Amino acid sequence: MRGTQTINHKNHLEIGGVDTVTLAEKYGTPLYVYDVETIRAKSRAFKAAFDHYPINYKVAYASKAFSSVAMVQLAAELDLALDVVSGGELYTALVAGYPSENIHFHGNNKSEQEIKMSIEHHIGAIVVDNFSELEMVKNISEMEQKQVKVLLRMTPGVEAHTHEYITTGQMDSKFGFDLMNGEVKRAIQFALEAKTIELCGLHSHIGSQIFDVNGFIHAIQRVYDHIAIWHKELNYTPDILNVGGGFGIAYTKKDEPQPVETLIRSIVETVIAEAEKHELGLPEIWIEPGRSIVGEAGTTLYTVGTQKNIPNVRKYITVDGGMSDNLRPALYQAEYEAIIANRAGELPEEHVAVAGKLCESGDILIQDIELPVAERGDLLAVFCTGAYGYSMSNNYNRLPRPAVVFVEEGQDQLVIKRETYEDLLQFDLSLQTPIKEK
Ligand SMILES: Cc1ncc(COP(=O)(O)O)c(C=O)c1O
Repeated sequence: MRGTQTINHKNHLEIGGVDTVTLAEKYGTPLYVYDVETIRAKSRAFKAAFDHYPINYKVAYASKAFSSVAMVQLAAELDLALDVVSGGELYTALVAGYPSENIHFHGNNKSEQEIKMSIEHHIGAIVVDNFSELEMVKNISEMEQKQVKVLLRMTPGVEAHTHEYITTGQMDSKFGFDLMNGEVKRAIQFALEAKTIELCGLHSHIGSQIFDVNGFIHAIQRVYDHIAIWHKELNYTPDILNVGGGFGIAYTKKDEPQPVETLIRSIVETVIAEAEKHELGLPEIWIEPGRSIVGEAGTTLYTVGTQKNIPNVRKYITVDGGMSDNLRPALYQAEYEAIIANRAGELPEEHVAVAGKLCESGDILIQDIELPVAERGDLLAVFCTGAYGYSMSNNYNRLPRPAVVFVEEGQDQLVIKRETYEDLLQFDLSLQTPIKEK
């Protein structure tokens, strides 16, 4: 059980003091349920870890993990800054009333319209990814006669995922200016010379679902070796050092993420040590976690439908969603844990696979799991679906996207409505005949 999850007197899974069976009856399934207290607790933990140090910092929520008006409003309430990666995420934040000066905008191919939108709304910073974008930002800001705050995204040649990290000379990545081949230095020079660009700092993001702090330590050390040179050669030191997101979470018992305190301690103490070593002032440290803020807070509820038993091979139980509401298993072989929520205290009795209902053999939500014997109509709760679940959801097979509910202290609140068949057709137009004149 995670966060506020408990089993109530009816033997039902309860989240945020709300019975999941009641939620399924009220809103239907599939249904994303967010435990708001878990989101609050995760945000508090990051900030508390930084508060141990006499430094300036910013914890930005990477809204790609789950972007919605209510979520952005919650991020504002929790005093989190906001990372967006598209005009759509920026628009969501603006409609949510989120203060634009606390937003920074990522992405490796921002459109002219997205850059104009960022400048018009005076967002906190554009994280520029490449030279063509840097030129576009310069040209647009000159045309609009507006100052624009910029961070430069670097590829530090350190890549980390879960337990491992690798260091490469020149990293094969579509993101960012290469640190090792001199691109970052040239980008800094360009930005310093551009009158309408205020170069606020540097950014790197080394991977996702990271458990090993050494990746962050090595990336920061590498970056500082270069900062020391830029300080001498260009008289430039960054005011902000954004070390990205990617902090891992426990999807299953096999996952052993580092406590937030350990991660932040490693990051902050490495920055302090490197700044001292090179006799430089301390930058403001930014991080931008997504998964580790919302991942564990999310649970998806499904209704069990058909089953297929292949003797001596495998038994499949099928639910009413799948890769349309959770693409991660098909995309990354991601693993999840689940229980039967309406019989939450029952012990597992059989080994099954949980399949989705979409027309793809790869639409398997959980390949191997021990569950009580499931029956049609049971409610399956899949845990840790709060990050990159709804945000990667799609209408494959023309399945309407599920609803999203927030729960806290015994109350539930619908924050995204379930799509209807009419919604699915809202952009469809009927065929006009003849299509073209003969
Ligand atoms: C630049 C950047 N920052 C932050 C994140 C958030 O990562 P996570 O959700 O793993 O914390 C990502 C994820 O891809 C990213 O690309």
